[in-house]
Amino acid sequence: MEKILNITDDIYYVGVNDRDTYLFEGIWPLPKGVSYNSYLICDEKNVLIDTVKVSKSGLFIQKIKELINGESLDYLVINHMEPDHSGSIWSILQAFPDIKIVGNKKTFEFLNDLYGIKDNLLEIKEGDELNLGKHTLKFFMIPMVHWPETMVTYELTEKVVFTGDAFGGFGTLDGGIFDDEVEIEYYKNEIRRYYSNIVGKFGPMVQKALQKLSGLDIKIIAPTHGPVWRSNPKIIVDLYDKWSRYEAEEGVVIVYGSMYGNTEKMADYIANVLAKHGIKNIRVMNVSNVHESFIINEIWRFKGVIIGTCTYNNGIFPPVENLLINLSHKGLKNRVFAAFGTYGWSGGGVKGILEYINKNNWKLACEPVEVKFSPDNEDLKKLEEFAARFVKSLKEEL
Ligand SMILES: Cc1cc2nc3c(=O)[nH]c(=O)nc-3n(C[C@H](O)[C@H](O)[C@H](O)COP(=O)(O)O)c2cc1C
Ligand SMILES: [Fe+2]
Ligand SMILES: [Fe+2]
Repeated sequence: MEKILNITDDIYYVGVNDRDTYLFEGIWPLPKGVSYNSYLICDEKNVLIDTVKVSKSGLFIQKIKELINGESLDYLVINHMEPDHSGSIWSILQAFPDIKIVGNKKTFEFLNDLYGIKDNLLEIKEGDELNLGKHTLKFFMIPMVHWPETMVTYELTEKVVFTGDAFGGFGTLDGGIFDDEVEIEYYKNEIRRYYSNIVGKFGPMVQKALQKLSGLDIKIIAPTHGPVWRSNPKIIVDLYDKWSRYEAEEGVVIVYGSMYGNTEKMADYIANVLAKHGIKNIRVMNVSNVHESFIINEIWRFKGVIIGTCTYNNGIFPPVENLLINLSHKGLKNRVFAAFGTYGWSGGGVKGILEYINKNNWKLACEPVEVKFSPDNEDLKKLEEFAARFVKSLKEEL
């Protein structure tokens, strides 16, 4: 059992760490775990902001009961209905049967769909206020960041904004809960992996949400995953602004799929030539060994994306194609692309990558290089030219 953790004098952290779940949403690996953050505001009315995943209900209820010390819990605000946050609603209702659930119309539609809950609801709309005594909550809708019902809850007195998944990241809170209590660089990478894989598709909606929040005086940003921002919340707001505008820094991600190492040889050669042209940030990633969430994270950071594939059944190597499908779903923009690869007889791998590049209107920096079975000296010369052109195009676009 952890120590009591204050966000401010009257606002407590009652979230939990999850080091058991292997794949978040059944797809994203959690090597560093994840936290489900929930907050308790103690006032004339006691309010809980969001809950935690159902597997952690027991610990969660215990924490709340210890803090609340026999008093009632009056409201539960649901900023986001995804079950990693709504999963403990039934346990909360059991422990505090008189509680009122606060949400918007869409929240309550999903509440009924997911849990069959229809009673004790308090429906709020954009800009509505809920007075708790010393504190007042105000609600703002941020639809599609990343579900349709998502909203943020702003506490007017202490200027704390509870933002749901926005500004959150993977990684359990190991010790400190504030940005200034932890090594924030460790978390930033996992915040970008969370953003790029889960929220990244909704860049324009994130921009709208940021515009809305820009009108608020914010002292603390309290998301539903990862560290709470109090020393300088502007850091995470600026990162979100950059990521949602698909801005990137100088650097190249070379992703390849290779069965027997020939395509990999090309990837390494290209990387060496890029380095000779002064590119320092180069990530060479084997799509078969690295989960695509880590690849997408790097692609969200860097401007250059070079994709290589061997040919497999007349087409792209399936894990490479998976990545391309995912990148196109995410509406990736403002990147510089190139393709390379190998084939044995009729080919089709590189052609397949080019089709994805065209279909998504991604900028192609140079003609692809495709070699029969294994690159010979002539092919390597072609790769020199390929990499030089790529760097030129990359620098022009930055
Ligand atoms: C299971 C398998 C399926 C393949 N399918 C094709 C194909 O449909 N068309 C083709 O041109 N080459 C095909 N190839 C040949 C490979 O593209 C070629 O061997 C290439 O050098 C593999 O590159 P790698 O060493 O990076 O895996 C296939 C190879 C394997 C092992
Ligand atoms: Fe979510
Ligand atoms: Fe979440």
